[in-house]
Amino acid sequence: DEDASLRPKTLDEYIGQKDLKQNLTIFIQAALQRNEALDHVLLYGPPGLGKTTLSYILANEMGTQIRTASGPSIEKGGDLAAILSTLQPGDVLFIDEIHRLPKAVEEILYPAMEDFCIDIVVGKESTVRTIRLNLPPFTLVGATTRAGDLTAPLRDRFGIVSQLQFYDLEDLSQIVRRTSRVMGNAIDEQAVLEIARRSRGTPRIANRLFRRVRDFAQVMNNGIIDQKIAAMALDRLKVDHLGLDHVDHQYLRGIIERFSGGPVGLEAIAASIGEEAMTLEDVYEPYLLQIGFINRTPRGRVATPKAYEHLGISYQKDLFGFD
Ligand code: ADE
Repeated sequence: DEDASLRPKTLDEYIGQKDLKQNLTIFIQAALQRNEALDHVLLYGPPGLGKTTLSYILANEMGTQIRTASGPSIEKGGDLAAILSTLQPGDVLFIDEIHRLPKAVEEILYPAMEDFCIDIVVGKESTVRTIRLNLPPFTLVGATTRAGDLTAPLRDRFGIVSQLQFYDLEDLSQIVRRTSRVMGNAIDEQAVLEIARRSRGTPRIANRLFRRVRDFAQVMNNGIIDQKIAAMALDRLKVDHLGLDHVDHQYLRGIIERFSGGPVGLEAIAASIGEEAMTLEDVYEPYLLQIGFINRTPRGRVATPKAYEHLGISYQKDLFGFD
């Protein structure tokens, strides 16, 4: 994809996720010393935080190859068997959106993960039997936005389970500086901060915003990326000072103006603004939760006073003592 050329190749080059990085460094070194495959790794967290990038790094650091697939793309047991049968010892099999693996495929994956073998059913009726296929030791790296959607038996078969965190301003700034260096564009420190601040804790967004700012700078500012052109570009992209975009605004205004600030069910908000509930839950809500603009309660989503303030709407919810 478009970020492939920007991806760091080693853990050392990978910015942020400090605790995870330190732990992975140990696990990799230990596996290499024992001449074993790295244990299976489950990475979960919001999109764009570097799950795919990390899986490429794991293969690279282990000195092995990576094969990639996604949950929905593996439709039948045979599809999985075909992929597994190409693996070399120690290879990484990366399965994105692993929570969307069909149940029948998942069941083939259990013995593959645990005992490095799969049972294939051949023949029919009276001649039906299973053939056991041995696999080389390999590392499954599963990625998901929703660890809660994994079945317990699948989750339990990962030896390393890690949640990726949103990046802080310093890490995002470092990523923007690195991207500008890799792409060969000078950028001043104020512009770095302007982009980092508006990247909602997400490297993929920082890199996307950097490319757009660079376009504006190239056409309108002799290629000079300074704070003024960055702010102007980001304003024109309708990315506000906290990185919230048109959908975030619609979502928050939806809760506040159509549902009196909540609590309101996700489906009702989604229907009222014409977005998929799953997209809101996976892509938009995690950051709004992180910055304290919404809360999730048993009765639904609630907009917080901070959200009202950011949108310039006065907060009068408790006027009558309800809630
Ligand atoms: N590009 C995207 N994510 C990155 C990260 N965490 N470190 C360095 N470069 C990146």
